[in-house]
Amino acid sequence: MKAAFIEKFGGPEVLQYGDLPDPVAAPGEVVIDVHAASVNGADWKVRVGQYGQSKFPFPLGRDFSGLVAAVGQDVADLAVGDAVFGVCEAGQEGAYAEKIAVKAAIVARKPAGLSDVDAAALALVGLTDMSAIEDTLKLERGETILIQGGAGGVAGFAIQLAKHIGARVITTASAANHDYVRGLGADEIIDYNAKDFTKVVSGCDAVFDTVGGEVAQKSFAVLKPGGRAAFIASGAQAPTPTRKDVTALRPPVGRARRHMERIAQLFQAGAIRPPEVKLYRLSQAADAHRLSESRHFRGKLVFKVR
Ligand SMILES: NC(=O)c1ccc[n+]([C@@H]2O[C@H](COP(=O)([O-])OP(=O)(O)OC[C@H]3O[C@@H](n4cnc5c(N)ncnc54)[C@H](OP(=O)(O)O)[C@@H]3O)[C@@H](O)[C@H]2O)c1
Repeated sequence: MKAAFIEKFGGPEVLQYGDLPDPVAAPGEVVIDVHAASVNGADWKVRVGQYGQSKFPFPLGRDFSGLVAAVGQDVADLAVGDAVFGVCEAGQEGAYAEKIAVKAAIVARKPAGLSDVDAAALALVGLTDMSAIEDTLKLERGETILIQGGAGGVAGFAIQLAKHIGARVITTASAANHDYVRGLGADEIIDYNAKDFTKVVSGCDAVFDTVGGEVAQKSFAVLKPGGRAAFIASGAQAPTPTRKDVTALRPPVGRARRHMERIAQLFQAGAIRPPEVKLYRLSQAADAHRLSESRHFRGKLVFKVR
């Protein structure tokens, strides 16, 4: 199969496009003919070696959409030809490829009205947001949430999910992305280049930070007493709160078919629309990584694999 893979850690130039052996379905797994795979913020971190995988070569990529091509032993609920989408198990990479073997129990059927490109674009970001907004922050109708980094993939889905729950959404984005995040449902938008968000936001019930670094640290300041903040761009642990009266949380982002099915339901109900997408071929993986690593683009970068 063709794949975009690495043989060593490093800059975008270590991404190669070429042939790797086809995967086979172990018991409990399916092999999927990948039609689309998306670029996630984690991918360039894997590429530079932050996650420490060492069995080279391996394709990068964590989410995909496509057709079941082979079914391993003990898989009764999926069949060859089924249209599916999903996210690899934690610690597994491999979606930047024409084929991937993945545990069947974490893959879901793709609704007919959702394209492969959009399904791949929604998979890991949707899963992350279910974990962060619903399971971890337990956001409720009528609450106010600050979502940091509104124009990104995770935050764009999160804005829509929070609005669907009935919360008031404040978000941060550069001026060029304000129309985009307004279109996703944001009630209040802060141009983080022009204003310090801690000076204009206060009394929030919750914060969801997708930016990390200093933005994450400063986010505690906007919470009301008893407020809670979830962090997904600060590594495996939430940063230590700068105050004693708030809670810092790190969503676990566990893989489960039910999360994929919920993404499908939210899409079918019209609650979530796919993000703006910039398309690439697998042979352009280095270019896609350069843009991803710049951290200034809108929505999602997606490989159209077939
Ligand atoms: N399982 C997990 O824990 C998990 C899962 C998914 C993602 N993540 C992490 O979550 C983070 C977000 O990922 P992503 O793919 O959604 O987006 P991303 O590619 O990391 O970020 C892109 C967005 O960030 C915005 N941005 C950059 N600096 C900003 C700032 N100072 N304030 C506000 N917005 C800012 C940019 O908008 P502007 O152009 O407007 O600046 C751009 O739209 C990444 O660090 C990723 O690794 C973790």
